Amino acid sequence: MSKTQIQIFDTTLRDGEQVPGCKLNTPQKIIIAKQLDLLGVDVIEAGFPVSSPGDFKSVEEISKIVKNATVCGLTRSVENDIKIAAEALKYAKKPRIHTGIGTSDSHIIHKFKSNKEAIIERAVRAVSYAKSFVEDVEFYAEDAGRTDNEYLARVCEAVIKAGATVLNIPDTTGYCLPHEYGAKIKYLMENVKGIDKAIISCHCHNDLGLATANSIEGIINGARQIECTVNGIGERAGNTALEEVVMIMKQHPYLNLDTNINTTMLYGISQLVSENMGIYTQPNKAIVGANAFAHSSGIHQDGVIKNRETYEIIDPKDVGVTESAIVLTARSGRAALAYRAKNVGYELTKLELDVVYAEFLNFADTKKEVIDSDIHEIIKTTKIYN
Ligand code: KIV
Ligand code: ZN
Repeated sequence: MSKTQIQIFDTTLRDGEQVPGCKLNTPQKIIIAKQLDLLGVDVIEAGFPVSSPGDFKSVEEISKIVKNATVCGLTRSVENDIKIAAEALKYAKKPRIHTGIGTSDSHIIHKFKSNKEAIIERAVRAVSYAKSFVEDVEFYAEDAGRTDNEYLARVCEAVIKAGATVLNIPDTTGYCLPHEYGAKIKYLMENVKGIDKAIISCHCHNDLGLATANSIEGIINGARQIECTVNGIGERAGNTALEEVVMIMKQHPYLNLDTNINTTMLYGISQLVSENMGIYTQPNKAIVGANAFAHSSGIHQDGVIKNRETYEIIDPKDVGVTESAIVLTARSGRAALAYRAKNVGYELTKLELDVVYAEFLNFADTKKEVIDSDIHEIIKTTKIYN
């Protein structure tokens, strides 16, 4: 049975760039956009064109160079935003305007000082106006995570009638639990008239560390697009991490979901984004962190040396990491020491290993990590090769 294709909508250059102090300039954005296109993302959200001349320029330049992906520009439900976005996207082979408005009571009452019917009218006007420029119009219901499902369904129905091709259901504040977010998507799939004319998109924030889990629940319940960023960067606690959702689908084939992503590029693009944004990736970050394939305790090292799959569910090569790392610390065992010693040229017998290991433990207690040059030193101290 062929797998259901999930669209990957990358918003590293828009929502991801909302990380305080991490502004990218246009040449940097172009470098990242080219790599995202090669990576195989389906949509690149290149910026928010009305927000600044720099962002307009970035969206325009990215539109010129992207070969395969749809290029998308964000707007509010404001005519001028939409007109400017259309202008910035004019060179794109596949342009998309992403427009929307807040739909939760909190947004309607406090942000817009409006009411539910007036918000639907604004949403419909925005989508219709965007449709006068491009065929592909995505609508976001900001704070959909805290929007009552019945009203959300009415908003979705109205914007589909106006021509929206994608319905973005953002958990803007990262509040939903996975089962709630999944139920919301299911409710929309079952209750929005005309839902077959559009696809639902998940856009989850990570305030409670649930962005990835929520996005996966969303697609299990019928959504067909995930909005995400490289390394999960973004406003506050960030967005859904692209590398996480992609590898979840790859490592769980029974879900029967697939993407166009070339996963062997994941580590490289993670490094590229981290360097350009000046944001250090936490070592324990899933998939792309420095320790994601590093083993330091004796029991784990012994297992991995015998068979990598004992403690690794992903082949590091599948995400562009050359190999698993056996890190030597005072918690390491003989198997790890013998393995690393062999890598630097010493084939130790069992007796030799006993001697070297005793010396190694004394040394390792004084250091965080024992590196290759230390191994030479330790072996020299034992005099077994004199
Ligand atoms: O989190 C959010 O609601 C957004 C929208 C503007 C799509 O980023
Ligand atoms: Zn967002």
